[in-house]
Amino acid sequence: MIGESKPTVLVTGGAGYIGAHTAKALGERGFRPVVFDNLTSGYREAVRWGELVQGDIRDEAALGRAFTEHGVQAVIHFAGLIEVGRSTQRPDLFWDINVAGTRSLLTAMQTHGVGRLVFSSSAAVYGQAGRGPLETIPEEAPKTPSSPYGDTKLACEWMIAAQCRAYGLTGVALRYFNAAGADPSGLIGEAHEPETHLIPLAMAAGLGDGKPLTVFGDDFDTPDGTCLRDYIHVNDLASAHVAALEVDLPAGAFEAVNIGTGAGHSVRDVVGAVGRALGRPVPHSTGPRRDGDPPSLVANASRARSLLGWEPLCSSLDEIVRDALRWEGQPRYGAGSRGARKT
Ligand code: UFG
Repeated sequence: MIGESKPTVLVTGGAGYIGAHTAKALGERGFRPVVFDNLTSGYREAVRWGELVQGDIRDEAALGRAFTEHGVQAVIHFAGLIEVGRSTQRPDLFWDINVAGTRSLLTAMQTHGVGRLVFSSSAAVYGQAGRGPLETIPEEAPKTPSSPYGDTKLACEWMIAAQCRAYGLTGVALRYFNAAGADPSGLIGEAHEPETHLIPLAMAAGLGDGKPLTVFGDDFDTPDGTCLRDYIHVNDLASAHVAALEVDLPAGAFEAVNIGTGAGHSVRDVVGAVGRALGRPVPHSTGPRRDGDPPSLVANASRARSLLGWEPLCSSLDEIVRDALRWEGQPRYGAGSRGARKT
């Protein structure tokens, strides 16, 4: 526990997809979320639980002012770039925003005596090295990221772990598998630009709003030849952050925890589930493999249960797709909701 009275939590990247759902979960648990976001990829309208401080994580002074003005006691750090493909073209940008941004945050936390951090990491820290296609991934598995994006997430974990050892910070890195779905309220959901994720693209194809879906490869060493992923409902991810904030850990501890269900679904399973939800088949064809896609990424999620007392409650594929579909039917965040793109 980080105190009996519910603390103020700075949520960097809280105007983004997972950040907004986590701000809602924090609010519902009686925490006071304060969102810190530069709105380059987040949306002002997604900030409904707690106020918005517009700023860049590389701006240490702005973070310091937010800590002081809001009496921040803990940080959940989502802000960063996430597009795997873009990271291969602009690694410099990913190292700057993800790694230098995290360094700036850590320094500001240290200066202002903020001693608790939950970090948004990724299953991208694991590559496929040494693992069979049907094996789940424990936290100790080799870390051989297959993209600069994964490299930067791993580098941030190392930096946070060292900071915990050196200065008594308490840190938890949550390694997400495939975040999907939306809050059932329909108020917030996934709105990436450009969208590259399977479920929203399959949904758009099925609704006739987008191009027919291309299945990226059907010759993988998996049961139906398409890639296996561990899809986790964004609200289950959000509750994992609250659990990571509340878990009793000593000063100086650092823990890395997988957040997934432990069940893998193929691209074809997802296409089938989206078709069932829509009541009509998703138009699709098979294309070549996408660069860097590992055949299988499925969590061993036992540490999340034992350490955090967390388990997924709404992550069946049908529930994820149902909630994603409800969100697709809502009016989207308005054009004026975004800040100017700076990068
Ligand atoms: N896929 C298709 N067609 C598409 C889009 C995706 O067949 O049009 C396939 C991909 O090849 C992959 C699966 O659907 O096999 C899921 O792809 P996503 O793009 O939805 O998600 P990824 O597994 O590539 O990536 C996600 C996050 C990353 C994170 C990674 C690691 O988006 O940030 O999980 O777990 F790094």
